[in-house]
Amino acid sequence: MIPELSNPSVCMKDPQRVREILQAISEAGSSTLQVISDFDMTLTRFSYNGKRCPTCHNILDNSKAISSGCKQKLDELLKTYYPIEIDTSRSVEEKLPLMVEWWTKAHDLLVEQKIRKDDLAEAVRESEAMLREGYELFFDHLHKHGVPLLIFSAGIGDVLEEVIRQVQVFHSNVKIFSNYMDFDESGVLRGFKGELIHIYNKREGALLNTGHFQELRTRPNVLLLGDSLGDLNMADGVQDMQNILKIGFLNDKVEERKQTYLDSYDIVLIKDETLEVPNAIVLYLTGNK
Ligand code: TMP
Ligand code: MG
Repeated sequence: MIPELSNPSVCMKDPQRVREILQAISEAGSSTLQVISDFDMTLTRFSYNGKRCPTCHNILDNSKAISSGCKQKLDELLKTYYPIEIDTSRSVEEKLPLMVEWWTKAHDLLVEQKIRKDDLAEAVRESEAMLREGYELFFDHLHKHGVPLLIFSAGIGDVLEEVIRQVQVFHSNVKIFSNYMDFDESGVLRGFKGELIHIYNKREGALLNTGHFQELRTRPNVLLLGDSLGDLNMADGVQDMQNILKIGFLNDKVEERKQTYLDSYDIVLIKDETLEVPNAIVLYLTGNK
């Protein structure tokens, strides 16, 4: 059906079910499809040549817009909270308040730095952020077929937009839910707009944005891409869902997390830095045209 599903990085608990979902969506046609994807470590690479790639937050943390003292504090936060984010021995209930704490502290530090809106493009240009291999086909093909792509990110919307704009894939079918910066009249960061999105409240974020899903109510078939267990809730605002295929990137702590990922995602991609499998699926679902 899709030869790439035999790639060594692909793991599935129930391949037959995956085939059935793919078939059902394919029969319904690409006019019924929408794609909902996380950004950091899902559309962007986790590592390149053995070195970790930055998240939206890290792009700023490592930029000239931030003082060295602040960089150190942000780095300490990362060292404290990232191990908690990926710790399988703690429950979501236990981790949730700690994640809110991480995001709140990080955003407060960024605001203290009086970052200028005009600095963002340079921060992204000079960063080591990289979209996964095959991103051009992914974005361009969805655009060509008029398939809406919702990027749902607990990162920073302004930075994320700049990443996809600089590589010319911020097409008209792309919609973003994320944390957007609030700049004052002189273009200096003074806070963040709206409700905070962190890795464990994507369900609430989806339900706050039901208007978007309302517009897409003729698209009850969903391809979901994520890398964290919090990403599984990104489609919770979709009404009258018919089929959903969930693809999860398992980038880190593979052995500890593999079973949980297999139980949660239909397709698990282990240490796969490419979009080869999602692309093959998107091609299949749009009639290989
Ligand atoms: P997401 O990929 O689910 O949208 O989550 C965003 C990622 O951003 C998550 O993996 C944690 C990471 N992050 C940082 O790297 N630095 C930070 O300061 C914060 C708050 C989050
Ligand atoms: Mg992510």
